[in-house]
Amino acid sequence: MAVSVKKLAYQTMQQGKSLLGLAHKQVSTQLMEIVAPKASADTIPISPDTLQALRRSMDHLLERDWLEAEQNLYPTSLLFDAPWLDWMLRYPLVWLDLPNIWGRRLRRDVHDLPKTEGRSYPSYYLQNFHHQTDGYLSDRSAELYDLQVEILFNGTADAMRRRLLKPLKQRLKQGNLGSPQLRILDVACGTGRTLKQLRGAFSSAQLVGLDLSDAYLRQANRWLSQLPGELPQLVQGNGEQLPFQEQTMEAVSCVFLLHELPGEARQAVIEEAFRVLKPGGVLVLADSVQLADSPQFQPVMENFRRVFHEPYYRDYISDQIETRLDRAGFAQISAENWFMTRIWCATRS
Ligand SMILES: C[S@@+](CC[C@H](N)C(=O)[O-])C[C@H]1O[C@@H](n2cnc3c(N)ncnc32)[C@H](O)[C@@H]1O
Repeated sequence: MAVSVKKLAYQTMQQGKSLLGLAHKQVSTQLMEIVAPKASADTIPISPDTLQALRRSMDHLLERDWLEAEQNLYPTSLLFDAPWLDWMLRYPLVWLDLPNIWGRRLRRDVHDLPKTEGRSYPSYYLQNFHHQTDGYLSDRSAELYDLQVEILFNGTADAMRRRLLKPLKQRLKQGNLGSPQLRILDVACGTGRTLKQLRGAFSSAQLVGLDLSDAYLRQANRWLSQLPGELPQLVQGNGEQLPFQEQTMEAVSCVFLLHELPGEARQAVIEEAFRVLKPGGVLVLADSVQLADSPQFQPVMENFRRVFHEPYYRDYISDQIETRLDRAGFAQISAENWFMTRIWCATRS
């Protein structure tokens, strides 16, 4: 496909995803206001200026996503990677699940979880994050997660995840850590979307995913096993106590985890990443933008916290991640924002 046609196809697909995400949120919110008005959150109106700033910032992200694929940081095929048929089949389940979510919102019940026999989890984890049915603790939750994130971010979740690839590649190159033996650990890998982006950029690296949820790891295994030649290495464990020896990884990534942790757990995850990294190894973090770097999006952050059950988000958006990285011993700390995501990069000295 000629480059300009392919780019047009990418832009059209993203516009379609964005419209579908917006339409879904609008219709489901209106339905909730009619059927379960008391479950509705009291949100702040978003001004036209802020909406325009969001639009610009999203366009900027998508432009960069295309540009970095053109620069061969990852294959353009990654931009079109989506399990469309699976999402179409699961989409009705998202609607069927809404009454459960409204019920929990009405009851203010955030501990409506399946029994957790045989595993112990940190207490902060045992909640219905985003009012999600079963929290992170069932196959049903894992099967809907990717689609729900796509809707939440209007189809830009992977484009935001991919923003960690360039700084990671650059730092590994600077530190001469680009060998085929490269070992990259993705902490809180969830259903494996970041591992998929990493595979696109590091074709011969050894990738390892870790998560607390068996169910999400099973889903990650299902997706990743579809990649030709892939033998997914997925480990159940806690990012605060990584089950790996010291100095055994060239890189660690961690996407959309920090905002779901209390402050001390955030620090512990960063310190564990430092422990398992080799000298010169690189940590890349991706999570929500924060108040200090994106004051213009303060109402959007506030609404996110009001609409979804995100018990640590308010603390997170005021947290100083750079200070935490510095305290753990990291050097060369940098950060940049892409749409609603901030990417930090730091090197173990
Ligand atoms: C918002 S999801 C992000 C998943 C994935 N990184 C992504 O980009 O979609 C948060 C994930 O963190 C996992 N998680 C939460 N606390 C954890 C911890 N202490 N250690 C490991 N995983 C954790 C959850 O099971 C869930 O899969």
